[in-house]
Amino acid sequence: MKEEITRRRALGVLLATTAAGASLPVYARKPGTGGGTLPDPATAPPLRTYFESEFEVGMAVSPYQFSDSVITSVVNKHASSLVAENDMKPHVIGVGPGTYNFGPGDEIVAYAEARGMVVRGHTLLWHSSAPEWFFAGDATSPGYAATVENRLITYVTDVVRHFAGKVHAWDVVNEVISDDSTQLYRSSRWYQVLGPSYIETALRAARAADATVQLFINDYSTEDPGKLSRLMSVVDDLRSRGVPLDGIGHQMHINISWPPVSNVASALSAVEARGLINHITELDVSLYDRDAGSCHSNPPLGCQSSMRVGSVQYKEAIRQQALQYRAMYNLFAQRESVTSVTTWGVCDKSTWLATWPTQRTNHPLLFDASGKPKSAFWAVVDPNFGP
Ligand code: XIL
Repeated sequence: MKEEITRRRALGVLLATTAAGASLPVYARKPGTGGGTLPDPATAPPLRTYFESEFEVGMAVSPYQFSDSVITSVVNKHASSLVAENDMKPHVIGVGPGTYNFGPGDEIVAYAEARGMVVRGHTLLWHSSAPEWFFAGDATSPGYAATVENRLITYVTDVVRHFAGKVHAWDVVNEVISDDSTQLYRSSRWYQVLGPSYIETALRAARAADATVQLFINDYSTEDPGKLSRLMSVVDDLRSRGVPLDGIGHQMHINISWPPVSNVASALSAVEARGLINHITELDVSLYDRDAGSCHSNPPLGCQSSMRVGSVQYKEAIRQQALQYRAMYNLFAQRESVTSVTTWGVCDKSTWLATWPTQRTNHPLLFDASGKPKSAFWAVVDPNFGP
């Protein structure tokens, strides 16, 4: 099926061959309209149909959006998979030991089930969403680590059981790999108390709670060769000890000029080489590609200043965004191992990048703030469209 799509797409693209022999699409960067003249939205093919034989088309949502017709019209037409942007994270579900708030997550499951969509679970463990009760107690007492570990096992077990048969894949652990090349693991609270074993503990507990749900390690910057190699070291270590793991989630919070498609191809290949599945879990393409590193610290410093919608700079960014989206979806469609591609949001009306890493105009998705397909959408579905 993927081969057929690759052939179809190849008609509209120039195929280049890398040293490794893999075919990668190359696009002429010719000047374009930057979103000036776009086809009639009524002629837009539903993405869920367009990519039906390649991968699930996912979108991150929150229950409050189900009463917003701009959002629901895009979701209902294009998505075949949903993920909770926040509502299945531990700080929402994990009210206290043994006390859970499943309501918002259940709403998302019900919305998806009613429309024949699948649901990805995000996430069972994340350093940014780790309620204090997990770590309560005297950290110097001999039984402390075992107590924390048991709370983790109970949480993972109860949550995975609750969503068994409803969630088909879980990001069991999120962002556990270090960004620092001198160490493998993020120095999170989980790591400080339990060492690297918490990853194995969470994966084993998830498998014990649901024998068939797909288990993922999810992280950002897998397109960075260093981060990828640290991630693969951890994956190899887990697999050598028989720890259950089905796939890798690549967040893919990327921008209009980074990464090159070849870096993403390498990341997908590394996962394939281990016989695992690839999910693209949080794709968005920021219009800003020149932020200083300090823009991602607290407080953010040196971030690019907000673009004015309609400016020359904005139009050029929108054009580059379309080319970046096209290159990425072409790659995903070529890879049998990519079975799910989720964007982190539905349309530009609501995106976490409007406030992170700093407050500014950012339009990182395939649909504009009114839900209309952007240049990026047309670049993805029409190889002859010149952004
Ligand atoms: C983000 C949400 O989009 C925001 O609404 C929230 O305030 C913070 O979390 N990596 C992840 C996601 O794995 O869970 C994050 O989502 C974005 C970065």
